[in-house]
Amino acid sequence: MNKKFSVLIAGGGSTFTPGIVLMLLEQLERFPLRKIKFYDNDGERQEPIGEACKVLIKEKAPEIEFLYTTDPEEAFTDIDFVMAHIRVGKYKMRELDEKIPLKHGVVGQETCGPGGIAYGMRSIGGVLELIDYMEKYSPNAWLLNYSNPAAIVAEATRILRPNSKILNICDMPIGTETRMAKILGLKSRKDMIVKYYGLNHFGWWTDVRDKEGNDLMPRLKAYVGEHGYLPPEVVDHQHMDPSWIETHKKAKDILATDPTTLPNTYLKYYLFQDYVVEHSDPNYTRANEVMDGREKHVFTECRRIAEKGSSEGTTLTTDNHSIFIVDLATAIAFNTKERMLLIVENNGAIKNFDPTAMVEIPCLVGSNGPEPLLVGEIPQFQKGLMEQQVSVEKLVVQAWIEKSYHKLWQALMLSKTVPSATVAKAILDDLLEANKEYWPELK
Ligand code: NAD
Ligand code: G6P
Ligand code: MN
Repeated sequence: MNKKFSVLIAGGGSTFTPGIVLMLLEQLERFPLRKIKFYDNDGERQEPIGEACKVLIKEKAPEIEFLYTTDPEEAFTDIDFVMAHIRVGKYKMRELDEKIPLKHGVVGQETCGPGGIAYGMRSIGGVLELIDYMEKYSPNAWLLNYSNPAAIVAEATRILRPNSKILNICDMPIGTETRMAKILGLKSRKDMIVKYYGLNHFGWWTDVRDKEGNDLMPRLKAYVGEHGYLPPEVVDHQHMDPSWIETHKKAKDILATDPTTLPNTYLKYYLFQDYVVEHSDPNYTRANEVMDGREKHVFTECRRIAEKGSSEGTTLTTDNHSIFIVDLATAIAFNTKERMLLIVENNGAIKNFDPTAMVEIPCLVGSNGPEPLLVGEIPQFQKGLMEQQVSVEKLVVQAWIEKSYHKLWQALMLSKTVPSATVAKAILDDLLEANKEYWPELK
């Protein structure tokens, strides 16, 4: 087969776009391309990234057609895969998502707790719009979606676009598995076969084995119980800022809460919420760290490449984030049946859990999409936590659809990060004021 594919990156102005382009260029033998396009609704932000990627593509694969645009028709026409990573409200709103809850003594985080709820209320409309453009201009295409909060976006698309070819994904388990491989002295995370279940940013590994079937969990638990997911040497560039290093270390304490599994690092926001608040600076949150770090680096470097017309000596890199989405597209394009963690409808995979919940579990991926694998019964501790959290996610989506203030308040009340209905209401009212431009008007 010598089919060549056409890929659209939606959210072309994202800090993750150059990494994905570099990876696409690296993987051309596995995943051949004829066209790469970018789409963003902020042309000014997208331009420097577009100009730099024009240089990268010209250098490595001049035969690939490239353009970047803010016009949906131009963007979404003749596309096989949309790789989406939009951030509705951009870092300006992420900063508020983090700082407003902290003002009330509650976790301030991009995808967890009240910040994630606020971001969900902004993101749903943006992602639905991408699906609708795709279905109008390229009805056979797949949308591979990183746009957060993936759990809420996945639930919204399950209900509102049930027949759409959208797959919601997360790079966190992949990043952590790369750390596990390093801890074990393996070359690649792909040398491990894992069992994992949960919600997005809310899950556990129950089994990690090598290709021969040897159980690697005991060695991993012994290491993580002492150092968290901080391997002896540097692993990737993606999660290396001081706040991330702290998060990898904290996995040590999360492991203690259930020594039979290995945890996703995001559980710290639900199980150690008091610690997180105490260790947050309400005047300088992760959004500030990203704006001063990754955003500055990517945009400065892109402007430099565009000006010089050459990428020589560039510090832009590929990473776990970019390989995961390119692997996923390849699995669909060539029906490889690769085993990957995706966010899919439970539908009985976790036997004693809501069949309509969007869960993150291993799936075999082929040209018809994902085939979720059976998880079986989960223990009471995880089930209880997940039931509470999935209810938060479902209530946010219901609140968005019904424009219901009350349901959104209930979502906040139910979040394990929020101590009372009073605090939930105070945070909600501040978030509402800050998000007027983005949320549906609530009744
Ligand atoms: P960013 O702000 O640098 O990029 C987002 C881009 O989206 C911006 O250029 C913005 O103009 C554009 N945008 C916003 N709303 C849009 C809309 N309605 N239509 C088209 N474009 C729109 O953000 P980033 O830090 O690079 O992250 C991008 C997204 O990827 C975020 O949602 C982030 O949470 C997500 N992400 C997810 C994972 C995951 O595991 N699922 C991993 C990394 C990043
Ligand atoms: C991980 C998660 C993403 C999240 C990102 C935040 O990769 O899987 O869902 O968006 O971290 O990273 P940042 O560097 O923007 O804080
Ligand atoms: Mn994620």
